[in-house]
Amino acid sequence: MLKNLLAVKSVQELAAESEKGELRRSLGPAALTAIGIGGIIGTGIFVLTGLAAAQHAGPGIVLSFIIAGIGCVFAALCYAEFAAMIPVSGSAYAYSYATLGEGVAWFIGWNLVLEYLFAASTVSVGWSRYLVKLLEEFNIGFPAALSSAPVDYSVEKGFFATGAMFNLPAVLIVTIVTVILVLGIRQSSTTNAIVVAIKVAIVVLVIGFGAFYITADYWHPFIPENTGNWGQYGWSGVIRASGIIFFAYIGFDAVSTASQEAKNPQRDVPTGILASLIICTILYILMSGVLTGMLEYPKLNDAAPVAAALQAHPELRWLTIPVVFGALAGLTSVILVMMLAQSRIFYSMSRDGLLPPRFRACHPEWKTPVFSTVLTGIGAGLMGGLLPLNVLGELVSSGTLLAFVTVCIGIMVLRVTKPELPRPFRVKGVWFVGIMGTLFCGLMLASLFMTGGTWYRIVGWTVIGAFVYFGYGYKHSTLRNGGASRAAKPGPVSPATK
Ligand code: ALA
Repeated sequence: MLKNLLAVKSVQELAAESEKGELRRSLGPAALTAIGIGGIIGTGIFVLTGLAAAQHAGPGIVLSFIIAGIGCVFAALCYAEFAAMIPVSGSAYAYSYATLGEGVAWFIGWNLVLEYLFAASTVSVGWSRYLVKLLEEFNIGFPAALSSAPVDYSVEKGFFATGAMFNLPAVLIVTIVTVILVLGIRQSSTTNAIVVAIKVAIVVLVIGFGAFYITADYWHPFIPENTGNWGQYGWSGVIRASGIIFFAYIGFDAVSTASQEAKNPQRDVPTGILASLIICTILYILMSGVLTGMLEYPKLNDAAPVAAALQAHPELRWLTIPVVFGALAGLTSVILVMMLAQSRIFYSMSRDGLLPPRFRACHPEWKTPVFSTVLTGIGAGLMGGLLPLNVLGELVSSGTLLAFVTVCIGIMVLRVTKPELPRPFRVKGVWFVGIMGTLFCGLMLASLFMTGGTWYRIVGWTVIGAFVYFGYGYKHSTLRNGGASRAAKPGPVSPATK
């Protein structure tokens, strides 16, 4: 069994699959960068920044963004080398299959569900809140019973009924995004590009106008004195906040799941990953600096901190409605990119026989994995509509960090096991980058495991995954039942379209 779990898929096999894929190759470097930005800018900057600044770091939140950004740059460099070498849609799952074996690959693929599917659900709930807020701006009420989950969770009370029925706007946005994703990668990418342009414009407007309303005194002290408790201001607060706002950076890795839809993946996917991360890091650092300069950090303790900062300056009130629109646009593209990535991970796992064939069934005309996309939509819609999601944010970050750590380790493993492979994008100083990426992401992961029940939830999720793997994938793995030739066969045509 150990031998089977450690079975490694060759990079050549993966490259052959990439050539024979049925997905449509239509994405250039700009579209790939837009997918990265589309996945990155969302709840993190529009919601979490204020809370993390008010409760943990004060103006030092700028440093938290720099620390989390550095960790992500190390991971992104490793992703870029892998993506250029193995341009398939499986991302960290496929990279682990090529380096650490089938068992680890399954574990990572299963945990990527925590990242992509759960992030789409979490963000759909944020989208619903912003929609209700926008309607309020126009004096339109939305029934509370139809805009939140029927149950909620708090540490003191545990699970309790809220009296609501379900979160209709969350289900609605997931349904709309699912339809766009099913219709085709080009439609999805065009929608994403438009939405990204809107949200970046809004962020730039806030930075540009907000800069004139900074009160330098609000930045003193830049790192407020620690209260005596770990994580409440001081340097420990800065580090704690970096773990929280790590969520804001999630999404650049989704670019690598679109590798099989890129026209020139070897060149353009690394560009998309690194360009989107660098652009967003700069915007985040500026935005957090401006926000903490516009409003004293304790007052940023608001679920809509950007709107709060603007409303503190009467001359800037006109920006509030555009910002709420921008946030809605931002969250929409995060949902789109996360669901796109999830369906491509399912597709890849199915190609390897670890999930049933229907997961890779592509529509003959739209060239999209219909079953995987619709299943992702149903999962995200159900969770977004019915579940309390305040504990899921940490699961999303944990699943992502696990993937990042694996990719950072995998890149070093492959340099030793397959030094001769052509590497169209070669990380310079790979040992430094790989080790630093592992350390930064490993530390952030450890800080998440230290709080709440994240650790138990990851173990519970892995146990469910083990049942699915040993119940299906272990027996049907194409690698051990015929190898590349079977693995590379195209999937069946979607039953819906026969
Ligand atoms: N980075 C994404 C967000 O902040 C997940 O919403």
